[in-house]
Amino acid sequence: MVGLCFVFVSAFGLVSGFPPEHWREVSLEEPEVKIVAKIAVQEYNRLSDQDVIYLQLRVTDVRKQLVKYDFNIIMGRTMCKKDGKESLNNCQLHVEAPEKGVKCNFLVLLVPWQNETKVLHYLCSQEDFIKDIVDTSSFLNKDKLTSKTEDGMRETISLFKEFVTTYNKIYPNDEEALRRLHIFSENLKKAKEIQDKDLGTAEYGVTKFSDLTEEEFRTLYLNPLLSSSQKRWIMKKAVAPKDFPPTQWDWRDHGAVTEVKNQGMCGSCWAFSVIGNIEGQWFLKKGTLVSLSEQELVDCDAVDHACGGGLPSSAYEAIEKLGGVETEHDYSYQGQKQDCSFSASKISAYINKSVEISKDEEKIAAWLAQNGPISIALNAFAMQFYRKGVSHPLRILCSPWFIDHAVLLVGYGDRNGMPFWAIKNSWGKDWGEQGYYYLYRGSGACGVNQMCSSAVVN
Ligand SMILES: *[C@@H]1O[C@H](CO)[C@@H](O)[C@H](O)[C@H]1NC(C)=O
Ligand SMILES: *[C@@H]1O[C@H](CO)[C@@H](O)[C@H](O)[C@H]1NC(C)=O
Repeated sequence: MVGLCFVFVSAFGLVSGFPPEHWREVSLEEPEVKIVAKIAVQEYNRLSDQDVIYLQLRVTDVRKQLVKYDFNIIMGRTMCKKDGKESLNNCQLHVEAPEKGVKCNFLVLLVPWQNETKVLHYLCSQEDFIKDIVDTSSFLNKDKLTSKTEDGMRETISLFKEFVTTYNKIYPNDEEALRRLHIFSENLKKAKEIQDKDLGTAEYGVTKFSDLTEEEFRTLYLNPLLSSSQKRWIMKKAVAPKDFPPTQWDWRDHGAVTEVKNQGMCGSCWAFSVIGNIEGQWFLKKGTLVSLSEQELVDCDAVDHACGGGLPSSAYEAIEKLGGVETEHDYSYQGQKQDCSFSASKISAYINKSVEISKDEEKIAAWLAQNGPISIALNAFAMQFYRKGVSHPLRILCSPWFIDHAVLLVGYGDRNGMPFWAIKNSWGKDWGEQGYYYLYRGSGACGVNQMCSSAVVN
């Protein structure tokens, strides 16, 4: 027995008797790096307290010592819930919050001959790292991309770089970045066409939606339910004011409008439009401007379709049924449907009924100046590439019968003789004029006058 024990000890002595290997740099191309990175991401997702899955974006600074790998990995937030139902492969980065990522340092053991892997240690920080990724991204500087492209494309690439930096865009890999560059390039052409045909003073071009195809844009941000259901639009008529409207009016100057919000990648514009209207009505009747909850409608309005679209008329009804609306603070926006967690004890505003407002733009203006911001819906044809100015697309391109977006009318006036509506949108402040859209007034442009309504607070 003594002998056996001796052999055992000496075997250990032999292993630890190897000359200690120093850490050495490892190329990112090595297959082991892919394996340890994959394990790191799995482990992070398994143990993190985040509600969504994180996706590998970039691995850096890989060192190796015998069977230990030490490396940094940058992961981005996706839109996949961590409930295990979705596979990592189908998860897309969260376009609205790409900066919400993590940078982790991992120490992983990989013993190929024993087929053993183990995460020994990791440490993560939630830094603002996206700018680094964009700056160090090799993709756009690659010779093969720039050397044989003609001048037109070179200009597009330079615009695309600027776009990527301005809007903190990140793409999981070079192929995706290349695909987005092509879409971006096509979109520049489309924007130019819209520009050439515009009758107003608007400028169209690069926006934060410039890397989305029209179809993606429609599905993610517009409201399909509205276009097919104008027939269901039955409401009590509002009383038309007798006075002529003032020549201009803007409820932002009178404290009736909250900050521009962001619906994210969710077709919930209908909720933002209605809530914006109720915020105004509440302010005008009760004297306080409170930011109210769109998420309550997304979660608790059983008639409308949450991120799949909805109708203002049924949203008012839902709020009447629930008894009121909570504040934005109490029931904050998530950008996806969840279980309804409305609590009647937290009601902060109520409505008593809702009314439909005239389709005559003069009367709409009069009603607005007298009563507050109006929930409206329109054809969003020109909005994907809108930057500023008064938009006035040709009627044939922006049919009043194809309504796909709900917004809030907050004012009207003239800019250098061009009459406009001031429209509060829900795509963040980094779209349009600080989040606002200006649309030609007086010709029913893009169906702006077709679906005007308001809640009534007693
Ligand atoms: C290593 O283990 C994994 C999972 O346990 C298995 O799928 C794989 O085939 C193994 N590889 C080798 C070389 O044994
Ligand atoms: C308006 O609705 C609120 C809340 O439902 C209710 O308390 C109030 O009595 C109603 N006012 C009128 C005049 O109906």
